[in-house]
Amino acid sequence: MFLKLGKKGSAAGSVTELVRSSGLRHIAFIMDGNGRWAKKRGLPREAGHKEGSAVFKKLIEYCGEIGIKTVTVYALSTENLKNRPKKEIDALMKLFEAYFRDCTNSTKAKDLEIRFIGNREPLPDSIRSMMTELEARTGEKTKRLNIAINYGGRDEIVRSVNKLISAGAKCVTEDDITASLDTGECVPPDIIVRTGGESRISNFLLWQSAYSELYFSEKYWPDFTEKDVDEAVRWFAGRSRRFGGI
Ligand code: FPP
Repeated sequence: MFLKLGKKGSAAGSVTELVRSSGLRHIAFIMDGNGRWAKKRGLPREAGHKEGSAVFKKLIEYCGEIGIKTVTVYALSTENLKNRPKKEIDALMKLFEAYFRDCTNSTKAKDLEIRFIGNREPLPDSIRSMMTELEARTGEKTKRLNIAINYGGRDEIVRSVNKLISAGAKCVTEDDITASLDTGECVPPDIIVRTGGESRISNFLLWQSAYSELYFSEKYWPDFTEKDVDEAVRWFAGRSRRFGGI
């Protein structure tokens, strides 16, 4: 029996089949460990983010190749923006800008619907206008990428409820809140992968993760590979999801 070998020799054929048969539609990543990856090499934290950004680009593409329709990444939390040194935030903004520019110019990203989640109000104008431009791209889109920037799950729920109140709601339902979250019409994440050895959710997709499978990897994000994604998919395919049933 032959396995169809995909990019970089991973058994993409069988993983694609697992994605399909397990009903994995949405994967989310907490890309943790960039700073420690850099420190281990005697490099500044910013070097870890640069390497992390390259891995992000590679794995977004890979997730598409194996048939995952929606990917969400935690690129900057509300707490990161408040609590990290300006030098580190500036470096992250530069990486975001470079990626946005690439996506706007390249045809490679043309079938990717990019959406931003989080509160963009405090972000620099230059970044905000690039975000608006990217979101406005039209055309045939088969895959979706949500990038969480200045994102906090609690903040998102509060903004969602306030939107409903502003629209005249006196009493809200779960469906109302789900629909007015930044993730809007997206299905909830089937699996949330966190790298970097911590076993916590850190204010990410708090509402949407109610029935997500949580997968923790010891690897730092810059060391995470296509094979590690395959492993997470295999683990997911072996889960029994009951959604409160039996
Ligand atoms: C957490 O690791 C990571 C971040 C705060 C930034 C994640 C951003 C990227 C991987 C770049 C993504 C790029 C684009 C274009 C979306 P940490 O720095 O807290 O790691 P540590 O826990 O080891 O210090």
